[in-house]
Formats: sequence, structure tokens, C-alpha cells
Amino acid sequence: MNVLVTGGAGYIGSHTCVELTEAGHTPIVIDNLSNSSPKSLERAAEICGRQIRFYEGDVRDVGLVEQIITEHNIDCVIHFAGLKSVSESVKMPLPYYRNNLESTMALCDAMTHTGVKKIVFSSSATVYSADNIMPLSESAKTGDCTNPYGWTKYMCEQILRDFAAASSERSVVLLRYFNPVGAHPSGLIGEHPNGVPNNLMPYISQTAVGKRECLSIFGDDYPTPDGTGVRDYIHVVDLAKGHVAALKYLGSHTGASVFNLGTGKGTSVRQMVAAFEQACGVTVPCKTAPRRAGDLAVCYASVDKSACELDWKAEKTIEDMCRDSWNWQKNNPNGYDD
Ligand code: NAD
Ligand code: UD1
Repeated sequence: MNVLVTGGAGYIGSHTCVELTEAGHTPIVIDNLSNSSPKSLERAAEICGRQIRFYEGDVRDVGLVEQIITEHNIDCVIHFAGLKSVSESVKMPLPYYRNNLESTMALCDAMTHTGVKKIVFSSSATVYSADNIMPLSESAKTGDCTNPYGWTKYMCEQILRDFAAASSERSVVLLRYFNPVGAHPSGLIGEHPNGVPNNLMPYISQTAVGKRECLSIFGDDYPTPDGTGVRDYIHVVDLAKGHVAALKYLGSHTGASVFNLGTGKGTSVRQMVAAFEQACGVTVPCKTAPRRAGDLAVCYASVDKSACELDWKAEKTIEDMCRDSWNWQKNNPNGYDD
């Protein structure tokens, strides 16, 4: 299939372009490079031995998106483009609502005008309400989001459900990612957050490489086995393969469907630090710090529905995630600027 990949130069998008190509699809990327480098796509092309067509532009430019769809005979869209920092969204909510909602609606307009009927959307486990019991199944309660970023995902899901309901031929897959980490095993592509990382894994690897002095463990008094927060970390290559599975699913289903992409297993902060030290042979200095506002004690997915209906399961281990993060980090300490 010819797949329009919005935000394809980003962390998850670049890994997905590799997996799409390796599965015989042709990704065509549009990205405004607001949080990425075009080098990610050059490196992705190096991995899969095929050029990846790239348009530098904004998804909100409906004319440009229509032109790309027509020129490349696009069969379906994977929509990664969006702003994703929770903390930034709290400080600047309007750019988050504008970018994330308007890009989704512009894409729906362009699809309507050109007759494209299939779309996969990057949603997040953050849409689940805090009062659910674990594991989170796709039917768990959503809403009560704790930040504007989370609300944009919640609202885009609703826009896309309504988009699917408005025409019986449309097919929408909403993928709720848990905690994507790691990098391609080649060490050529990976995640390079701007400034001080908010998320655990990039903070650990930047501490291990000496860019940060010490990891602050946000709370060690949670009701978990070692007192630290538990999350469902998923290797980005497994996550990327989940998109290939979603494309297959789109081919034989209409309407809107939602799937968790996680491993179904929880790992605590201390367990992750220990696994990283073990897998990479490095030391990660740590100190205990107060809890971070808005954090849950435990969050992990039920993966039964994605296993049954998408025929997809995460395969990589925590050790793979640590080793591949470290391989990327030590070979590219400044990301794509190296
Ligand atoms: P990323 O920032 O690396 O990639 C997003 C890409 O979208 C960037 O390359 C950016 O330049 C581009 N972009 C943003 N707005 C655009 C616009 N209007 N037009 C064109 N391009 C635009 O982020 P990522 O980690 O690869 O995440 C991809 C998607 O998955 C995002 O929608 C994110 O919210 C979602 N998601 C990510 C995580 C995570 O932990 N990384 C978790 C859950 C959901
Ligand atoms: C965070 C976001 C979530 C988003 C996800 C993307 C918040 C409140 N939530 O989730 O909306 O979808 O990232 O991957 O920001 N930790 C430390 N020290 C650190 C960093 C993190 O101890 O320096 C702990 C956290 O308290 C948590 C765990 O590590 O227990 C994972 O944190 P993180 O990687 O930020 O992911 P989430 O909190 O799950």
C-alpha cells in the first residue's frame, strides 16, 4: 500500500517507515520538522535500502496534503504528526489544541476531498481515566485527562470516530500507545528529546552517558513492590510493527476500532534502572525525589484485544529496550546533530 505518514520524521514515525518498507509498503512522509530532523529519514532509508519520499510541510496545509495524496495514489494514512510534551501543553495549551486538533481535521478534509477512506491514529494511554483498575482494557473509562496534551488525544479520537460514522466505507484505527522506548537495533535512528528529558528512558540513558548528573526517582512510596512507579514500556520497533498490523486490519474492517499497544507487563523505575545497568554495563546514579504531580502509581495494558484481533504482540524484552536505547545514545550523544 502507498501510505501517507504524517509526522514520519519523528521518533515513532521514522521507525514505522522502516517497518512499513520492510513489509512491502511505500511510506510517503509529510513533516514540518518542528520536532525532528530530515536525517532520521535518510538513516531510515539506509536501514531498509530504499529512499523514503519526504515533503517538508504542515499537515494543516490541506492543499499540499491533497496534492501528495493524488500524486502518490495514497491508499491510507498513518497520522503521527502532533505536539507531545505534557509539561509544555500545560504551559501553552492553545498551540497544543490548535496543532493537534486542526491537523487531524485538515487531514480528514483532505481525505474526504480525495476519497481516501483509511486512517490509523496515534493515541495514548493517557486518555484513560485515573480511576480504572489494571490492566487497562480498551473498554476502560476514558476522559478526566490531567493535561491539555491528553485532552487533544481524547478529542482527536472523538473527531475520528465521528469521521468514521459519517460514511460506511471509512475505516479508522485508534492506537493507544503505552510507554514507547528504545531505538532501532542498528543504532541509526532513535529518540532525541529537546532539552532536559521528561520521560524516564531518555533520562536514564543521558545520565549513563554523562550528560545528566543523576536520575531523580519521582516517589518511592507508591503502593508498588519497591515503592516506585510502574509502567508498561514497549520497544519502539514492536510499536512500529503494530502499525503494519493495523494497516492489515483496516483492509478488512470498516468503522472505528481502538487497540492498546503495550506489552501487558509492568516495570518499576528501580527495575528499569537495574535492567539498564545490567544490559549496558554502566552505572546510573539515582536519588529519590518527591512524586511528580499527575503521576499514577501503576499503569499497564491489557493486550488481549490486540493479540486476538490485530494478530500482533510485542516481542522484545526490557533488556532489548535498554540495550538498544544505550546503543543509540552512545553512538549519537547529540541525536541527529552528531
Ligand atoms: P515526535 O515529536 O518525535 O514526532 C511527531 C512529528 O510530528 C515530529 O516530527 C514533528 O515535527 C511533526 N509535526 C508536529 N506537528 C506537525 C504538523 N502540524 N504538520 C506536520 N508535522 C508535524 O513524537 P513521537 O514520539 O514520534 O510521537 C508520534 C505520535 O505518537 C504523536 O502524535 C504523539 O502524541 C503520539 N504518542 C507518543 C508517545 C511517546 O511516548 N512518544 C506516547 C503516546 C502517543
Ligand atoms: C508520561 C506522560 C504521559 C505520556 C507519556 C509518553 C506525564 C504525567 N505523563 O507518562 O501523558 O503519554 O509520558 O511516554 O508526564 N520517572 C522518574 N524520573 C524521571 C522521569 C520519570 O522517576 O526523571 C518515573 C515517573 O514518575 C513514572 C515513570 O518514571 O513513574 C515513567 O515516566 P515517563 O517516562 O515520564 O512516562 P509516564 O509518566 O507514564
